[in-house]
Formats: sequence, structure tokens, C-alpha cells
Amino acid sequence: MIAAVRGTRDILPGAVERWRHVEAVARRICERYGYVELRTPIIEREELFAKGTGESTDIVQKEMYAFTDKGGERVTLRPEATPGIVRAFVEHALEQSLPVPKLYTLGPMFRYERPQKGRYRQFHQLNVEVFGVTDPSLDAEVVEMACSFVRALGIGRTELLINSVGCPACRPAFSEALLKALGDDLPKLCGDCQRRATANPLRIFDCKVPADQPIIDALPHPVEFLCDACGEHFDAVQRYLRAYGQPFQVSHRLVRGLDYYTRTTFEVLASNLGAQNALLGGGRYDGLVKKLGGPDRAGIGFAAGLERLVLALPEAVSAPVPDVFVAAIGDEAREAAFVLARLLRAEGLRTLVDYEARSAKAQFKRANRTGARHVVIVGGDELARGEVTVKTMATGEQHAVLRAKVVEVLRSAS
Ligand code: HAM
Repeated sequence: MIAAVRGTRDILPGAVERWRHVEAVARRICERYGYVELRTPIIEREELFAKGTGESTDIVQKEMYAFTDKGGERVTLRPEATPGIVRAFVEHALEQSLPVPKLYTLGPMFRYERPQKGRYRQFHQLNVEVFGVTDPSLDAEVVEMACSFVRALGIGRTELLINSVGCPACRPAFSEALLKALGDDLPKLCGDCQRRATANPLRIFDCKVPADQPIIDALPHPVEFLCDACGEHFDAVQRYLRAYGQPFQVSHRLVRGLDYYTRTTFEVLASNLGAQNALLGGGRYDGLVKKLGGPDRAGIGFAAGLERLVLALPEAVSAPVPDVFVAAIGDEAREAAFVLARLLRAEGLRTLVDYEARSAKAQFKRANRTGARHVVIVGGDELARGEVTVKTMATGEQHAVLRAKVVEVLRSAS
């Protein structure tokens, strides 16, 4: 047997209903807040992420499924959706066709990470992105929408963390302060942190190495270095969240593992998921559109991990049961049974049939296993009279019904 690739998963019947539920709620919430759907390719040029996600990030350094294609081009499976959405926004000049570019997308992402519960190499995200709005009211709306989405799924016991990572005007002072505070401790940090210190000191906050944590916890916080404009922006975001009655906590280490963020960053954590507890994360990225060759437009958004939402869902979501199982009694009834099944399906009823000319008993057994609400028995004398028998499985009642009336009877019974 050839097994699935490590870190990838089949979503089996029985589990898929939970996925469809999460996706349906995601679409409903997005559309309620004025987002339209966009679908971008799963494969993109490698440089899009090197430039967009950032050369100094773990994603670009260690986790991309990048390769040279047969034409000699460097491409990669997308590790995240944001750079691809920005590319599409620029490539199709979407700000001209969409009055407020609010976009959402659902689909698979790929990161070569160490698989564990809630962390996979192929995983799925809901992504939402908005372009061209700098006002903090939008930051608060995006954060509030993310929380409403999680609540609409019935996931309780969550925590909203927010932070501000400043802008290119205040970032250099903060990076300098970080290096200064590290001072003699820098050589004590892990190899990755040494590399981060030169490439992008902010990334030191991404470190998960236990021995490094006491040093990192003692470092200065980005909010202490915000310029006036960034400080006011962050205050305003918090005011709006309070007005919405949305509880939050300011988390000074929340710099997020991607290089494009400016100002607001946020995450929603679930209490019942163990180590991989971030249900969603996002933030503002005001320089990214320009960096990727577009006009100077602000951007903000978030991505939610569908695997984690599905894990955190409170109640079972079951597959729809069939409305009808059509049982043919005797060979001469088979054709009539198939024709009836076709009619029932055309009328919108979920209909199963037997293909293998089993005995009546075997067909009833099978109908029972499928959970069908009704069995329609086709055959015998009734067939000659233009009738079928309808049996309601819950009560065991059965009666003859004119074939022409069967849809009506089944509809009124379900
Ligand atoms: P991210 O924090 O890398 O952000 O991912 C967002 C969410 O995707 C995480 O909170 C988690 O739920 C899920 N996720 C990430 N990696 C995995 C994995 N290996 N297995 C399962 N789930 C995972 C981004 O991707 C940004 N593009 C978000 C964004 C959009 N920022 C602005 N706009």
C-alpha cells in the first residue's frame, strides 16, 4: 500500500461534514461584511514569497515546497495566501473594478513543518484581505469579524491577543533597542536567533527554543517605540474594540512570523487545542502592495486554519441522510426502479438504489444501514397497477401509493 504523504490528510466522509459546516459559516460571515471571493493558483513564483513573506522568516528559510519546474523556473506551492492575493490585486488592477477591495479565499497551503496535532504540511485556510484603507476603524472591524466568525462556529473559551509592530519610521529604533538590550546575551541565544539578529531583529520574538525564552521575555516591547502616528492608530483600534464590547489582551511578543506586518497584529487562541492553539492570525501590511510592484496601498487581513477550527468545533455535524432507498423486487421491476430513482433525484430527493439485484431482505437491511427515511418498494402486482409501496422507516408503516403521487407523498412525509 502506498500511504499518504507525511503531514497530509484525507478528509473522510463523516469528517467532511464538519469541514463543509466551517466553510459555509466562513462564506456567510465574509459576505455579511462585504467580502467577495477570489481564487488564486496554488503554485506561484518562489520570489513572490521571498519578497512578500520575507527572506528572514522561517517559512521562506525552511518550510517552502519550492522547486525548479521543467521549464527551469523557480516555483513553490504557496505557504500562505496573502502574497498571491496581493499579486492578483495588482495584476488585475482590482481596485478599479471593486469599489472597496475586500477579498476572501478558501484553500490549501503547504509548509514543510514538523507535523503534530493541529499542524500539518498541507493545511487549509480561510484568508480575508482588504486593500486601500488606512483608518483604524477597519483594523477593529477585521479583528471583530474574525472573533464573530469563531463565535458563530460555537467555539467558546478563546482569547484575542493584539499588538502593534509599528511602521518603517519607528521600526529601526526598536530594532536598535532590541540589539542593545540583548548586548552580551546575544551569543547565548540559538543559531536561528543569531541569524535573526542580523537579518531582522524583530524575528527573535518567533523563537520557540525554551532556553532562549528568559532572555527574550526581558526584551523591550514594540509599543514602547511606536511613533506618534502608530501610537494613535493603536489607541484607536483599542477604543473601537472596547466599543464593540470585544475583550482583548495586548501581547507584546505578538510580532507574528511574517515580515510584512505594520502596526496592528492579532491572533485568536483556543484554550482546548494544546500547543498549536492559534485558530487565526493576521494584521496590517501597509507596504506590501507597493513592494510587490503595485500602487502604494494599505492592506490588512487574517487567515484562519480550518483544521484547527474543525478540531475546536463543539458539536458533531452529521452527513445528510438519504430521503429514499428504492428497492426493486424481482428482475422485471429493476428498470422501473431505476427510472423512479431518476425521477426522485430530479425532484431534489436524496435517493439511493440497489444495483446488485439482492433479495428483498438484503435490500431492506442495506436501506436500514444507510439511514434512509423511506424505502420505496417497486415490484409485484402493484407495479402492474401503477403503484409502489412506501415504507416509513421510523414507524414501520407502509402503504401503497400511486406512482404518479409518490413525490408528493414523500415530500409531505419528510
Ligand atoms: P499564519 O499565522 O502563518 O498567517 O497562519 C494563519 C493560521 O493558519 C494559523 O493561525 C493557523 O491556524 C493556521 N496554520 C498555519 N500553519 C499551519 C499548519 N502547518 N498546520 C495547520 N494550520 C496552520 C498567515 O498565513 C497570514 N497570511 C495571515 C494574514 C492574512 N495576515 C494578513 N492577511
